[in-house]
Amino acid sequence: MQPDLFANTSQQAGSEHVAQRATWLRAELNRHNHAYYVLDHPSIPDAEYDRLFLELVGLERAHPELLAPDSPTQRVGGAPLPQFEQVTHAVPMLSLGNGFDDEDIVAFDRRVREGLQLDDEVEYATELKFDGLAINLRYEDGVLVHAATRGDGATGENVTANIRTVRAIPLRLQTATPPKVIDIRGEVMMFKADFAKLNARQREAGQKEFANPRNAAAGSLRQLDSRITAQRSLRFFAYGIGLLEGADMPASHAALMDWYAGLGVPVCVERAVVKGAAGLLDFYQAIGSKRNALAYEIDGVVYKANRLQDQQKLGYVSRAPRFAIAHKFPAQEAMTVVQGIDVQIGRTGAVTPVARLAPVAVAGVTVTNATLHNEDEVRRKDVQIGDTVIVRRAGDVIPEIVAVVPERRPTDAQPFVMPVLCPICGSPIVRAEDEAVARCSGGYIKCAAQRKGGLQHFVSRRAMDIEGMGEQLIDQLVDKNIVTTAADLYRLGLTALAELDRMADKSAQNVLSALEKSKATTLARFIYALGIRHVGEATAKELARHFGKLDVLMDASVEDLMEVADIGPVVALSVRQFFADPLSRELVEQLRAAGIHWSEHEGVEKVVKPMQGKTFVLTGTLPTLTRDAAAEMIEHAGGKVAGSVSKKTSYVVAGEEAGSKLAKAQELGIVILDETGLIELLKEVHEENH
Ligand code: IVH
Repeated sequence: MQPDLFANTSQQAGSEHVAQRATWLRAELNRHNHAYYVLDHPSIPDAEYDRLFLELVGLERAHPELLAPDSPTQRVGGAPLPQFEQVTHAVPMLSLGNGFDDEDIVAFDRRVREGLQLDDEVEYATELKFDGLAINLRYEDGVLVHAATRGDGATGENVTANIRTVRAIPLRLQTATPPKVIDIRGEVMMFKADFAKLNARQREAGQKEFANPRNAAAGSLRQLDSRITAQRSLRFFAYGIGLLEGADMPASHAALMDWYAGLGVPVCVERAVVKGAAGLLDFYQAIGSKRNALAYEIDGVVYKANRLQDQQKLGYVSRAPRFAIAHKFPAQEAMTVVQGIDVQIGRTGAVTPVARLAPVAVAGVTVTNATLHNEDEVRRKDVQIGDTVIVRRAGDVIPEIVAVVPERRPTDAQPFVMPVLCPICGSPIVRAEDEAVARCSGGYIKCAAQRKGGLQHFVSRRAMDIEGMGEQLIDQLVDKNIVTTAADLYRLGLTALAELDRMADKSAQNVLSALEKSKATTLARFIYALGIRHVGEATAKELARHFGKLDVLMDASVEDLMEVADIGPVVALSVRQFFADPLSRELVEQLRAAGIHWSEHEGVEKVVKPMQGKTFVLTGTLPTLTRDAAAEMIEHAGGKVAGSVSKKTSYVVAGEEAGSKLAKAQELGIVILDETGLIELLKEVHEENH
């Protein structure tokens, strides 16, 4: 329970009470920091944390004698330093040898066994190889006194002022019996989400973005102005130890990590103790499969002989330990040269600049081009022909250019120029003032690229699902002027198909059967297949459900269209324009004449859910309903539950200890309900509908 002291004003309360309140606030804030950064389990809303924090700032300002070096208020950063001081590490900070494949790891395990003269399987501590920067944290009598970067391993830079701003790093160890001196080693990093937020902020402020979380972490930590560091969300995971005085060294690496966790020092949960090379390789596989899902970046895993005695026995070779190795994952980033920037024309005429790259292997795949999305993106990233760039490919994501390496720009680098005419059909390329995308104005009839894109969309799996009708076949059909519109596909005969390149009688026959089969479809698929701008699969389904019959949809006005759930003026106008065009109407007629059909009753079953289109945000603890139960009730009524409050939020349901979300809702004037209000609302609309 919190002491009920602050009900009095600070003057009335004795100075002893104020001191108690400050101590309580410090402990409370430290406890929440620990819950957030070490246990990964936030214990209070951010706004509540901020409130306690400000109260403590106020108290310390009024009573400077209460200021303690380990107060959470001391994490705000101070005046800029002229330069970093050099520090010599008490125990050098080494690096790790690398292994890249199974053989490297089997050989490492063999060397370890030989070194220990063991026939049995060795016990290893396995953990992640964090992609950040190494740091040494010196605690004396439990208080953080000093922090230094690794530097060259022997000497590093004194970054204490910056490290003090990192909330993940305890200013005091959580123990009544701290060691006299301990050097805790680990990695300072930036989580992916914080990195994305930082870059968004940089972009808005017109400042340079960081290429990756590691650079962002390094850039934030190596700031002479610690007030800047304080604004960056940095994290820390411990993985090692340097000097230790006044305490016994734990017997194993795993025990060391557990000790750290108990002291309130963040350690990563993704670690294990395994046996032998097989255990190491299993760990590598397991982590590899969740690499992209982790909140932070890693570039491999690390194996360490678990027993510290074994580590000592194995010792070091040059600057790396013999008892440990990093098993690297294939790099997700590589450097290459931009040989050209072409444009691709999509089915709606959208012009996409694509960088042609000197072939480079990234995460096990050869990459030869990367999309640059649109003209603004090319300018923002300042990519020029001839530039050396960092290319990234994570998981199944399409390769992208992360950044240009400015030092490597050749003097004859050429900036990208958006072509004036479409390279395919020669029509002017136009860009509407309020749009990021430039488009070929040729339209479906003039531009073969748009025709190809449109046909590819029409036959795709989620549209008409015409199997065997691949990109190459469509290219040929369009290039040879055999097919212009989707309706032409249904007029194809066996002879015409079989004459095409790479088409045997058998595959031509298969394509014809697939075309025949596709004629029985659903209204939603058909609408989607038409490729109307802004009409994706979900909208197509909604349109089919709402109108039930194609003829009704074709004659719907913009007002009629806007009555459909989730359809706004842009989509409504686009649908109206499409069906107002005689060419579209003719296409639809021809497709129907070709035999495409669906059940005309699709729309009839629509159940109107009362809360359709309404978004709810739940915050705080409700008196009787659990969060899940409340969400289920809302969803059952057709509503959606969102995580954050915005202008689009329809209702905020607030319970006890509601924090920043409630404040935001009040600010935006959003309807706020308590539990009873929510139940009433759902009941009311329920009755209205029956
Ligand atoms: S142990 C004596 N463990 O990798 C061994 N290092 O090449 C000292 N790193 O500079 C390092 N995750 O920045 C160790 N779990 C981990 C690590 C790790 C990342 C970094 C560290 C070090 C470099 C070594």
